[in-house]
Amino acid sequence: MPPRVPGQRMLEEIREQPGVLERVCRFEGPTAAALARRLRVRRPQMVVLAARGTSDNAAIYGRYLIETHLGIPVSLAAPSVVTLYGARLRLRGTVVIGLSQSGQSPDIVRFVEEARAAGALTVAITNTPQSPLGRAAHEVLFLHAGPEHSVAATKTYTAQLALMSLLVAHAAEDLALVRAHQRLPDAMAAALGTEPAVRPAAVLLRRRRECLVTSRGFNFATALEGALKLKESSRVVAEALSSADLLHGPIALVERGFPVIVTAPPGRALAHLTHLLRGLRRRHAQTIVLSSARQALQVAALPVPLPPVGKEALTPHVYIVPLQLLAYHVARLRGLDPDRPRGLRKVTRVL
Ligand code: F6R
Repeated sequence: MPPRVPGQRMLEEIREQPGVLERVCRFEGPTAAALARRLRVRRPQMVVLAARGTSDNAAIYGRYLIETHLGIPVSLAAPSVVTLYGARLRLRGTVVIGLSQSGQSPDIVRFVEEARAAGALTVAITNTPQSPLGRAAHEVLFLHAGPEHSVAATKTYTAQLALMSLLVAHAAEDLALVRAHQRLPDAMAAALGTEPAVRPAAVLLRRRRECLVTSRGFNFATALEGALKLKESSRVVAEALSSADLLHGPIALVERGFPVIVTAPPGRALAHLTHLLRGLRRRHAQTIVLSSARQALQVAALPVPLPPVGKEALTPHVYIVPLQLLAYHVARLRGLDPDRPRGLRKVTRVL
């Protein structure tokens, strides 16, 4: 067997994403539709999402989507409330969704077990249906991502996003949103073509210790996930902030040459983000801007043009791709192996 090239698995798994998305929609669409029917009958007062790391970033996307499309308040679980403090939560009438690609994060499994015992309807979104999480929940949505070997999660993240958006689109009976999923594999394939635009950004970050990553709304999750990939794979101290919070103080950090990554797709947040970008230009920041909108790209120091996605709610599935590529390239330029970040394993066992 030829020797493994550092980061080869991460790059292969990034490139598999259009195919994974296609499989999720084809094989798991009907299961998501059936679960959505059950949710419509049950009319939950609240949804609780439980996850860690990358899966938690997918949960944050889920929160924006459920609240905007279904009007159901969402809480992000703090698992230690149960695992450290032994609290008994009153969860009857709620839906608790545990997201974990491995299905093995012990605190997430425990949270879902306790939620089930407390009377919640429980759902697992996982790449391993036979896992402890899959066994703990009433219902399972399967990611169809194939084994993920790189420690850095990539294809399971976008599969989690797709399952959330399919579930919510069906629960909202939003047929246009359901159908818009069919265009996602092509949009993701086009996003893989951003590599030439991502390279200069990687060259910039190679010599920087820190950067900010920001967006707003659905793509706040993209900022968080992009920053996580940059931290664990490339060892860049990447701070993710909602662009609204950025203006509440941290923007004071930004001085000449400071790198700021801005995810600015067309949609409700674009005017705000374009305004922010003009402010960052006045501060002479090095902005790396992901967008398909001319007004955002033309104020960027380093523009990363993306294809139009159609629905703003589905842009996170596409906009994370250049950030995954960025983390990969920064790591390689620094001589790191992004498949095996220092001191990390694929499954983290924290209770
Ligand atoms: C990041 C990463 C971790 C995992 C986290 C949760 O790239 O891989 O942050 O996302 O440990 O793992 P699962 O989803 O298996 O519960």
